Amino acid sequence: TGVTRRQFLKYVGVGSGMVAGMIALDACGVQPTQADGRSTFPHASSTGKVHVYTLNPAPTQLLVGGHLVSTWAYNGGLPGPEIRVNVGDTLRATVNNHVSEGTTIHWHGVPIVNAMDGVDGVTQPAINPGHTFTYHFVVPSAGTYFYHSHVGLQLDRGLYGPFIVEDPKETKNYDQDVVLLLDDWLDGVPGGPGNPSAALKQLIAGGDNMSGMNGMGGMGGSMAMQVPPDLLYPLYLINGKASDHPFTINVRKGHRIRVRFINASAATIYHLALNGHRMTVTHTDGQPVEPVDVDTIRIGMGERYDVLVTANNPGVWQLAAQVEGAKNMTRALFRYQESTATPPPADFLPPELQRNMLTYAMLQAAPGTSTPPTGQPDQTLPIQLSGGMGQYVWKINDQVFSQADQIALQKDRLVQFQFSNQSMMPHPMHLHGHFFQVENGTGRGPIKDTVLVDPMQKVNITWVSDNPGVWAFHCHNAYHQAAGMMRVIKIR
Ligand code: C2O
Ligand code: CU
Repeated sequence: TGVTRRQFLKYVGVGSGMVAGMIALDACGVQPTQADGRSTFPHASSTGKVHVYTLNPAPTQLLVGGHLVSTWAYNGGLPGPEIRVNVGDTLRATVNNHVSEGTTIHWHGVPIVNAMDGVDGVTQPAINPGHTFTYHFVVPSAGTYFYHSHVGLQLDRGLYGPFIVEDPKETKNYDQDVVLLLDDWLDGVPGGPGNPSAALKQLIAGGDNMSGMNGMGGMGGSMAMQVPPDLLYPLYLINGKASDHPFTINVRKGHRIRVRFINASAATIYHLALNGHRMTVTHTDGQPVEPVDVDTIRIGMGERYDVLVTANNPGVWQLAAQVEGAKNMTRALFRYQESTATPPPADFLPPELQRNMLTYAMLQAAPGTSTPPTGQPDQTLPIQLSGGMGQYVWKINDQVFSQADQIALQKDRLVQFQFSNQSMMPHPMHLHGHFFQVENGTGRGPIKDTVLVDPMQKVNITWVSDNPGVWAFHCHNAYHQAAGMMRVIKIR
């Protein structure tokens, strides 16, 4: 029953179902040429359909949390426009850079051809101010993803948006599809700390100043704390809205709702709970799992969870996102159309937050999911995560990115990373261009692209190095990444 290495991440081609949105037949009607000219990597077979999007990163004024603020966003909105395609379709996204720094777009979690991965200085030079670049690739896997700038802390300023890939062969077991992006938005707030890049520079220069920072201490504390504790910032947002004017999901009694949670925050882990309802987890990082019922989901930066909710309890309910290690929270509302109830107060914490929280140990890859072969890895790499003591520097195997060597791997090897977190902060570790399996004692751990490694904990992941190129591998705490917690993995 073993799956061969080459079958791992081999995607099923899709049929000829119609898709919504802007569609044109690819000029030649054939699979687009891979940008780096290689033809060995197993892509989904192309449907030949091309979706054309234009993304304009630009300075923007936004109303968030009751303040009109200056920030950077795509096409004038926070989050950026939703990209929704079918697996096997081609995305052609033209980026016109209207901000004052170089920028790129990374398609987080989608294992595409390397040259289109959007990591500045690794897979492409940054797109200069005033310049244009077109990303063009076949979308190889279905699931819930997002796109974001991969330059500095631009993600934290608002340069992110949802990227949803549907599989027309999947039977739809829901009536409504809702996407929720979580953000710990920081930049541009009047009276706030201003440009997060400046805040980071201050942190790095200032050394270990952690005790003075809001919520920084303790196990599991999240890193949203470049601000004095008396400020209300960062603003915790769901789909660009703070808890005073929350994003509202309007539902009908009897309907099943698919909710796709995407944590686009720079530095915040959340606990998510929906008052009055249980959530059935169906996917993590876009990949299907055996359905599991939970009351609370813990979601790290860069992670995604898809859940199904049955609307069987009319009212207006709090969908709370509580900041781990702090008292702050944000929310969306889950409102039944027929209900006239008053919404709960902005700071109401559902009792569900206290019980039955999802852990990796509860997740198993769904039957039929491609998983790496079992057995002895060809290569085992210890990955030590450290830093934060004495100065604001974060390291992988005792090296910061600017001084580190590339990790060289041969193509099509079964690779095991053995994480050991030797610091007092959690690190959501993200691998580009590949999925991996999280070892969780079940023998069939979930398939993910981002894994939270908790303080002083060990986690193993296994994956097949089947996508050639130079791939970023880093902590998805944007501040840790910028302070050194990144490597480049070269596969050939
Ligand atoms: Cu969403 Cu390199 O990351
Ligand atoms: Cu980290």
